[in-house]
This record gives sequence, C-alpha cells and structure tokens, in this order.
Amino acid sequence: MAKAYDHLFKLLLIGDSGVGKTCLVIRFAEDNFSSTYISTIGIDFKIRTVDIDGKKIKLQVWDTAGQERFKTITTAYYRGAVGIVLVYDITDEKSFENIQNWMKSIKENASAGVERLLLGNKCDMEGRRKVGVGVPQLAKEHGIRFFETSAKSSENVEEAFRTLARDILHKS
Ligand code: GTP
Ligand code: MG
Repeated sequence: MAKAYDHLFKLLLIGDSGVGKTCLVIRFAEDNFSSTYISTIGIDFKIRTVDIDGKKIKLQVWDTAGQERFKTITTAYYRGAVGIVLVYDITDEKSFENIQNWMKSIKENASAGVERLLLGNKCDMEGRRKVGVGVPQLAKEHGIRFFETSAKSSENVEEAFRTLARDILHKS
C-alpha cells in the first residue's frame, strides 16, 4: 500500500491564554469557529494533511494551554516540534509584549533550528486594535515570518500554516 503521506511535521502553537490558539487550530484542521471560550487544559493536537509542492505533508498541530500553571507540561512538548507558531492578539497589548518571553521559552526548550512563525490573531477586530506598528520590524529582527490572522473570518489562517509547512519542507 502506498504511504498516505511523504512527511510528518509536528507543529506547536504557543502564546498567552485567550489569544485564539485553539480557534486557529480548529479553523485550520476542521474549518470551524466558535465564539464560546473554553480555555485549554494542558495540551491537545489535531491532524490535517496538505499538499505542498507535490508532496503530501501530514501536519500534527499541537495546541498548548496558555495559562501559566500548565507551563511545565507544555514546555515538555517543544523539543519534538519542527515548527512553532507564536500567537498574540492584536487587541491585547500584553499578549504582544509577552511574545518576547515566549521566544525565550523557545530558546530554552525547543530544538535548535526550529522554524518559527509569528501570528497577530483576531485581525477581524480592527476597531479594537492595540498592536500593529513595529511588529513587522520585530519579526524582521528575529528573522521570523509574520501574518495577521483571524480564526473567526479565516483570513490568512490557511496561508500561515502552509507557509510554515513549506519553509520546513524546503529546509529538510
Ligand atoms: P488558552 O487555551 O487559554 O491558552 O486560550 P486560546 O489561545 O486557545 O484561545 P481560544 O482559541 O480559546 O480563544 C479565546 C477566545 O477568543 C474565544 O472566545 C474565541 O472565540 C475568541 N477568538 C479566537 N480567535 C478569534 C478571532 O480570530 N477573532 C475573534 N473575534 N475572536 C477570536
Ligand atoms: Mg486553547
């Protein structure tokens, strides 16, 4: 029997509680959205296989709890990831300031050379925007790709995950 996929990539989403990590994973894996907030306990994953440049890439997308009390559990999963998605909420300044701490956490816990991606989520809430200016510059300084996304409207969600998978594919 032919193999169902050419590559398996483990991706991990991190970022403050409430920024929309779970909603991004659900939008990407199941094309669904709910505005009911159920804070993640520990860690969970969803799978989706995508075609990229003629290759079947199975993406195992790990969704972590943003709450501080789960940090010991969630950081244990960094090591196995080939791609890490850092998420903040464009309406929540603190979630953006904390990206520095999440970057530090990657340095301390992830494998060297892990591919990173920065997402400013909830871009459908333009009227409540608090974060915008200076973000592309920060991303550039860290040599990391950046998208604004909305799990609610789906804007850029597909593109963000595909871009990350493609970058990993061409590195491997
Ligand atoms: P933890 O599991 O606690 O770490 O939070 P999380 O980052 O997984 O957040 P979650 O995906 O549960 O979303 C938190 C809240 O924000 C929910 O009420 C979602 O409906 C809402 N939300 C998530 N993404 C978006 C978005 O793109 N736009 C809008 N308007 N709301 C969103
Ligand atoms: Mg969650």
